[in-house]
Amino acid sequence: MAIALLKLPYEKDALAPHISAETLDFHYEKHYAGYVKKLNGLIAETELAEEKLENIIQKTYTDDSKSAIFNNAAQAWNHSFYWQSIKPNGGGDPSGAIAKKLKSDLGGYDKFVEEFKKAGVSQFGSGWAWLVLRGGKLEVIKTSNADTPIADGLKPLLTVDVWEHAYYLDYQNRRDDYLDMYIKNLINWDFVNSQLA
Ligand code: FE2
Repeated sequence: MAIALLKLPYEKDALAPHISAETLDFHYEKHYAGYVKKLNGLIAETELAEEKLENIIQKTYTDDSKSAIFNNAAQAWNHSFYWQSIKPNGGGDPSGAIAKKLKSDLGGYDKFVEEFKKAGVSQFGSGWAWLVLRGGKLEVIKTSNADTPIADGLKPLLTVDVWEHAYYLDYQNRRDDYLDMYIKNLINWDFVNSQLA
């Protein structure tokens, strides 16, 4: 049983002009599929070969001798979560339970936007910005390289990939423009609500 690729929930040109088909094609086929392929090669015929992706991440997180497995497993998980965090014609004001919770836990949508953008911009080098639940309360965090909140037992609700490969063809070095666009045009609040439920 190998780890399977998550099928993209939309066509590769469906996020244009915000994210081009070229970016999504490289990101999915080269980067994401590359992590999954590498991972399957590393776990083949080991005690991890039959494990679920989440378990592989938990079991290798603190083991330096298994950092290659952790990195590829975490990147496989983070990307499959990112594909679901976004959708065509997404973004803007949230509705449903998350709208209420943003108000009670973070001070409202505008505060979330401010914090989420700050987390993404200030992540030095490669990494991810997240909206997570920590002990039932919303929190905005960032992680570096492959690191993932599920390794720390947090519950992710939303993520944005701030590795350059996620935006460079469309935005070059302008990570802040990519984050503005992501917040305004891509966030899949239905998915966030489904994770919160
Ligand atoms: Fe990526």
